[in-house]
Amino acid sequence: MQRSDVIDVAAPNLARMNNYLLGGKDHYPADREACERLLRIAPQAREVAQAAHRFLLRATSHLAREHRIRQFVVFGAGLPTQVGVHQIAQSIDVRCRIVYADDDPLVLTHARARWERPRRTLVVRAGPEQAAQLLLDPQLRALIDPALPMAVLFVSVLHTVPGPAGPRAVLERTAGMLAPGSLIAGSHLVSEDPVVRQRAGALLREAAGGWWGRVRSRAEVEPFFGGLRPLAPGLVDVSRWRPGGDRTAGGGSRLWAEYGGVAMVQPGDVPEGAWLFS
Ligand SMILES: C[S@@+](CC[C@H](N)C(=O)[O-])C[C@H]1O[C@@H](n2cnc3c(N)ncnc32)[C@H](O)[C@@H]1O
Repeated sequence: MQRSDVIDVAAPNLARMNNYLLGGKDHYPADREACERLLRIAPQAREVAQAAHRFLLRATSHLAREHRIRQFVVFGAGLPTQVGVHQIAQSIDVRCRIVYADDDPLVLTHARARWERPRRTLVVRAGPEQAAQLLLDPQLRALIDPALPMAVLFVSVLHTVPGPAGPRAVLERTAGMLAPGSLIAGSHLVSEDPVVRQRAGALLREAAGGWWGRVRSRAEVEPFFGGLRPLAPGLVDVSRWRPGGDRTAGGGSRLWAEYGGVAMVQPGDVPEGAWLFS
């Protein structure tokens, strides 16, 4: 199932709100007004959105440099703002291939116009719940070889998946389809305050046209990664995930943060033969 194709600039929209928080130019008064409401509930929302984006870029760089990953599937592409995954990965090795997935029609239009390149970068319509189907899609397979390790990135999108165990099912199904040596990065909006969770969740769900999950607590999010083996430093406020020299990594708090990490898929994590499809 997909969200509507209609671009309604009079109603707030998740991707445009994120663009506003990241300092981009693709937003309208309704998006800015919704962000101001969000900032009244969670005053760190801007820093946390920026921290999640910086985590996405640091994780990409780490995976390309240290794990020699050359194929990336990115869920929640977002509106092109600053630097994207393909720019980081292809600056390390120009042969890196990237598939961006999103289900927002405006994101797809912008990303196709600005990012898509034959045999290098592809933009497709899919949400995190369709990850398993997408990995079988012939369009993706023309770019990504499933027999080789790849990275699948769910940064700042796991909270869009509904159901108490929805994000865990997405991560497990995805891991079960990846070759050993593949890695999964993911992050989720969290708050330890139930009032903030409820109020911010309602606002973000409205901006997603109802297609959204929940803000959860850290304790709720941890089991989602239960079947995976996170790399050091484990699951953390993403601003603390290998910040290195990134002084702009920002930070969350008990009240509002993106919580996540990067996990490697080991042979034992995968149902036997599950990744050996052709
Ligand atoms: C917070 S942005 C994350 C952007 C990027 N990953 C980053 O970290 O900078 C979330 C993106 O996920 C997309 N999104 C939200 N809910 C979705 C869903 N259910 N299915 C697919 N995409 C969704 C939005 O359109 C938006 O582009």
